[in-house]
Amino acid sequence: MAKVRFIQRHSLLTRIVHCTIAVACVWLMISGLFVFIPPLAAASPDLARFMKITHRIVGVIFICMPIFGAVGSPGGVKAFFGKYLRKWTPEDFEFLKKFVPYMLSPKKVHMPDQDEVKSGQRFADGMLVIGGVMMAISGMALWLGTTVCPLPAGVLTVMRFLHDLFFLVMVVFVVAHIFLGAGIFQPYRGGTVKLMFGNGQVSEANALYHWGFWAREELEDGKNVVVKTVPDEDRKRISSKASLGTEPDATAKLEEAPQD
Ligand code: HEM
Repeated sequence: MAKVRFIQRHSLLTRIVHCTIAVACVWLMISGLFVFIPPLAAASPDLARFMKITHRIVGVIFICMPIFGAVGSPGGVKAFFGKYLRKWTPEDFEFLKKFVPYMLSPKKVHMPDQDEVKSGQRFADGMLVIGGVMMAISGMALWLGTTVCPLPAGVLTVMRFLHDLFFLVMVVFVVAHIFLGAGIFQPYRGGTVKLMFGNGQVSEANALYHWGFWAREELEDGKNVVVKTVPDEDRKRISSKASLGTEPDATAKLEEAPQD
């Protein structure tokens, strides 16, 4: 047996809110296609009716969940904006410059240390937040503006345009977010998905590799550090260099060979 350190990166509340929003968002995109593409609705009217009803119900869940999260943890909201709206450092610019070569060849490109949220991640997640807010405002305006409190035709046209525009923006950023967040491909393979759909913990090695500045602060502080005893073979997997996108080195000491 061996001891491995993990850092608690996301709270249970954050994970519940994120998972609900993620499922709701994907459902809204699929059901929204039946509104966005009229031939699709015409091909299957019963399914289209079902999709239109669920689009409204799930839309309410999509809007209420972040509000529920904010009420449950006002400090979490402050921390969220704090980590996203911070001044960009030279390392942040360097990360963005190297991002494409890194994605194409993670074994060869060395990335600079990063804060809690990488610079590119700050931009991409920011677009998800802005897109989500715009979809919520325009969606509610279209729903309520055509039912309980009628809005002028011009306003409805603008709202329809915004809803369509941000649908396309969301498709781009949600697909990219799932591609990276699901951790199926290098350099994010090996546990990224557990950050939101698991226990919210990241191994010390993985944290140091992806978010070096943040990981060192957390390890020094110790407040969010969780030590687990794991079988030796799990320790090897958690510390495998292969999941870092670098060649495994059989002679390296475990402490020098990070990763999930
Ligand atoms: C359905 C598949 C999805 C997967 C696999 C996924 C995965 C992840 C992962 C792993 C993280 C943590 C990143 C980190 O700790 O650095 C994350 C964070 C985040 N995701 Fe997703 N996500 C999904 C869908 C969505 C959707 C649809 C949205 C928004 C509409 C979204 C918005 C966010 C935001 C804003 C964060 C940052 C949360 C924070 O740092 O507190 N995600 N996601």
